[in-house]
Amino acid sequence: MIIAVDGPAASGKGTLARRLARHLGLPYLDTGLLYRGVGLAVLRAGGSPEDEAAALAAARSLDPAALDDAELRGEAAGNAASKVAAMPPVRAALLEMQRAFAARPGGAVLDGRDIGTVVCPGADHKLFVTASLEKRAERRLKELREKGVEIIQERVLQDMKERDARDSGRSVAPLVPAQDAFVLDTSELDADAAFAAALEHITSRQRAG
Ligand code: DC
Repeated sequence: MIIAVDGPAASGKGTLARRLARHLGLPYLDTGLLYRGVGLAVLRAGGSPEDEAAALAAARSLDPAALDDAELRGEAAGNAASKVAAMPPVRAALLEMQRAFAARPGGAVLDGRDIGTVVCPGADHKLFVTASLEKRAERRLKELREKGVEIIQERVLQDMKERDARDSGRSVAPLVPAQDAFVLDTSELDADAAFAAALEHITSRQRAG
C-alpha cells in the first residue's frame, strides 16, 4: 500500500505521515529531507542555492542514507531546499530514489509536496494536509522557540509566505492537491485528531475496496 501525504510547510504532514507509517507498519520517507540535503550541501560548500549547476551536482551526489544531520531541520536548510526544489533538473535527479522507495514490497508512506501528483500518481491513498498560514506560522514559531531559536513572529510569517509562494508558484511540480486527494485541514485539529481523521479515511476506503 502506497500512501502519499502532501502539504505546505508546518501543516502537520510530517507528524501525520510518520504516525501513519508506524501504525500501518510501513517504511516512511520524508522527501523534504532530500531537498534539504541538497540545499544544505550547496550552502556548506560555500555556494548559493540559486546556482543550478551547484544544486544539480549536489543532488546527483546526495547520499539518502546520510540524512540524519540535525541542521537539515533548520530554517536555513529549509529555505535553501525551497530554492533548489524549483529547479527541474534537481527534481528529476531526486525522482528515481523516491520512486524506488515507494516501490518497496508492501509499500511505503512518503510525504512532500508532489507525491500524489508526480512521484506516485497511482498511490493507493492521497492526503493533502493543510492549515491556515497563521496557524502554520504559529506552530513553526513554537517549534523554533522550543529549540531555543530567538525569532520574532513577523519574521516567521514572512518566511512562510515566501516559501509558500515559491513552492506553489514554481512551474515544475507546484504544490497543489492531487485531484483525487483527501484534503485534511488541520487548522483546528491537534495531532491526535488529524491522525484519527486520516486513518478513518484510509480504512473506510479500504473497506469500500
Ligand atoms: O517539507 P519540508 O519543509 O522539509 O520541505 C523543504 C522544501 O523542499 C520545501 O520548501 C519544498 C521542497 N520539497 C519539494 O519541492 N518537494 C517535495 N516532495 C518535498 C519538499
